[in-house]
Amino acid sequence: MSEEIKRAWYKEMAVYQVWPRSFADGNGDGIGDLKGVLEKLDYIKSLGVDAIWFSPLYKSPQKDYGYDIADYRDIQPEYGTLDDFKAVLKGAHDRGMKVIMDLVVNHTSDQHEWFKKSIEDPDGPYHDYYFWRKGKGKRRPNNWMSTFAGPAWEYNEKLDEYYLHLFAVEQPDLNHDNPKVREEVKDIMRFWLDMGVDGFREDVITFISKKEGLPSSPYYFPIGTGIENYMHGPHLDEYLSEFRHDVLDKYDCMTVGEAPMMTTKKALHHIAEGPDQQLNMMFHFEHMAADCMFFSWLHTGFKLKKLKKVYTRWQKDLYGRAWNALYIENHDQPRIINRYGSVKYRVESAKTLATMYICQCGTPFIYQGQEIGMLNIALDSVDDYVDVSTHNNYKVARSLLGEKKAMDLVHYASRDNARTPVQWSAEKNAGFTTADKPWFYINPNYTEINVASQENDPDSILNYYRKLLKLRKENEVLIYGSYEEYYKDSGDLYVYGRFLDDKRALVVLSFSEENVSFTAPGGFDLSKGKLALSNYETCGAVNNGFTLRPYECRVYLFD
Ligand code: NOJ
Repeated sequence: MSEEIKRAWYKEMAVYQVWPRSFADGNGDGIGDLKGVLEKLDYIKSLGVDAIWFSPLYKSPQKDYGYDIADYRDIQPEYGTLDDFKAVLKGAHDRGMKVIMDLVVNHTSDQHEWFKKSIEDPDGPYHDYYFWRKGKGKRRPNNWMSTFAGPAWEYNEKLDEYYLHLFAVEQPDLNHDNPKVREEVKDIMRFWLDMGVDGFREDVITFISKKEGLPSSPYYFPIGTGIENYMHGPHLDEYLSEFRHDVLDKYDCMTVGEAPMMTTKKALHHIAEGPDQQLNMMFHFEHMAADCMFFSWLHTGFKLKKLKKVYTRWQKDLYGRAWNALYIENHDQPRIINRYGSVKYRVESAKTLATMYICQCGTPFIYQGQEIGMLNIALDSVDDYVDVSTHNNYKVARSLLGEKKAMDLVHYASRDNARTPVQWSAEKNAGFTTADKPWFYINPNYTEINVASQENDPDSILNYYRKLLKLRKENEVLIYGSYEEYYKDSGDLYVYGRFLDDKRALVVLSFSEENVSFTAPGGFDLSKGKLALSNYETCGAVNNGFTLRPYECRVYLFD
């Protein structure tokens, strides 16, 4: 094994993300819950993953579906109790799976005790837990806009002050410059780690330090104005290091920080291995902008070359220095087949997309439903959507582009696309709930796209994911190997190699609905390689090449 790369359990694992409300309903009230998760632990394990990341399970008014936390030490009653959580934790551990919690500490809910007390007693200790500021005359304290659209300040009449909220109005930002807030965060971490959880996904953690004086921005965007004043802010290093040294280092745990607008250079600052490392991995967003500018509402159309460039940069810049977190879907992203794949070639493109990212160097994360190729949903009216950011972005889009285009964007970009209930079977309500009505719309395609129908089909997307994760697990070259890209100028093919000592892998992926011819790059003799995985049958090679069929993918291994 190459000496430059250090082994770690979090590097070898694959993670399954559960967004609890839509995963599985165990008590028949129409809402996903922990009882449902418990019943599905064997299914999750059967995928070949080693850990579960739970999107927030905590007590919350659900204005942002759990990312607005009212009590960090209790479970949302709709999802169950702390004992139910402990049963899931034990069930996961018994099956050899780790459990990762979402740590949402950039903000709380406005229903959190701290926030309520910050209003009740402006001279008390909790006022400074948040960013309360006087207005400037009739104007807000600065011109920042929420990342969900609309101003980032909300006025409170009783106090004649405004509070900062970078997300929804009901999500006031915590003031991490107050050492008491950081102590609270560390206590929350200890609470869950002592219970036995194995790590955290840290929500927008790179936003927790705001520039002193909260200056106005010289730029204006309808969404996120002022972001340069808190993205990667002045004390971020200090606060993350404090969390690591005071808490995380004392446990055998892992962290992955969510980091919008992150570059490799900045990321290395936080995740490069060594004494100054602050987090184990980071979820950056650059590869999620291959069909848009920054985020999916600024839709441009998918460009494979853009995607490849980003992937190659992250693979190369981090190799031997830091570790990638790999994902193509989560609860904030529309379904990937609608974005980077092909609905016409749904099964083929789902497998190609899976191979594309899971064979890279890093820890792969798989979002619920991704493993069966779930698709976006198109609801008739914006009123049918429940996600707060969908409504805000729709309003901005409608004012700029008109109703029709705004609605097209809702269908393409809404986070609700990823939040429809998991399609377990072709039975009533897709087997998600026994209630008459699930909490949210089920995609009508569930009669065809569901877990049960794919379980027994050896060529299903579901069984492909299982084979792919097994292949990764059994071949260290796919975990720890270095990365080299070929065919860089191709707008149809994505080809890369992985190298570890004398082992090599070649990953060949087509993103075309037409046939594309391919010759293996120098150094790879296909007649000496083993075709380890493909999404088509009868995959021969002639003269060291072959013709790829629509969205065909192949993984060759060489000794
Ligand atoms: C990122 C989370 O993934 C998203 O769902 C949430 O709305 C924001 N952070 C605010 O917590």
